[in-house]
Amino acid sequence: MLRLDSLSCGYGDMTAVQELTLDIPDGEITVMLGANGAGKSSTIMCIAGHVNIIGGRITYNEKEITHATPMARIKAGIAVVPEGRRLFPSLTVKENLIVGGYSQPNENSRDSIDRVLNLFPRLGDRLKQLAGSLSGGEQQMLSIGRALMSSPKLLLIDELSLGLMPKIIDLCYEAITELKKNGLTILIVEQSTQRALEVADRVCVLESGKEVWQDTAARARDNAALIDTLLGLN
Ligand SMILES: Nc1ncnc2c1ncn2[C@@H]1O[C@H](COP(=O)(O)OP(=O)(O)OP(=O)(O)O)[C@@H](O)[C@H]1O
Ligand SMILES: [Mg+2]
Repeated sequence: MLRLDSLSCGYGDMTAVQELTLDIPDGEITVMLGANGAGKSSTIMCIAGHVNIIGGRITYNEKEITHATPMARIKAGIAVVPEGRRLFPSLTVKENLIVGGYSQPNENSRDSIDRVLNLFPRLGDRLKQLAGSLSGGEQQMLSIGRALMSSPKLLLIDELSLGLMPKIIDLCYEAITELKKNGLTILIVEQSTQRALEVADRVCVLESGKEVWQDTAARARDNAALIDTLLGLN
């Protein structure tokens, strides 16, 4: 569905990601791992059109989108759950969801909101609550929900479980599994490897902006010690 071909991107003179080649197959969950500063967020934001491309190309559903605008990418079905959630804190839960559906004015936003509330029922009791007053877990659910409002085909999630309690992490991963069942293609960036490897189909490890390991999740699970070493965890 998405292919990065020798993609390099960065900020001014600084190269954050160097010649990354990655295939994200339709309907699969790809997990990207890497230590702090490895280039994970830069990769996600580059796919979404927010980071300057230095070289290489991005192809989405057979079409080149290397230089497409962020809005064109959203309209084509690419949605992001950004690191730090980036909600609108002084808007309500419902208003945040409506903003997420902005790119699809013709779609029935009531249906889209209902889909999100089916996935995260606890947001349903809080539709009028300000997003800034939600717990961390609820904010992550809202951030995922807001991204889903654009009816994406490819969902990019940066740091799915960072700072969340195990129970909430379980809820988020259950939602991810449900979304995959419904045909969504998902790229998850994670620091905590174990939970991510349980749902992943493919795994890519970045170090200092370069890919150092890429294979099926089954191989990643068989090589857990090696992956931990690449991440500097042992
Ligand atoms: N807006 C920016 N301007 C300049 N440099 C940046 C910017 N954002 C990121 N960088 C740099 O790009 C490199 C990759 O950062 P990035 O945020 O992509 O890493 P990451 O893998 O997401 O790290 P973390 O696990 O801490 O979130 C880092 O050296 C970082 O300092
Ligand atoms: Mg990051």
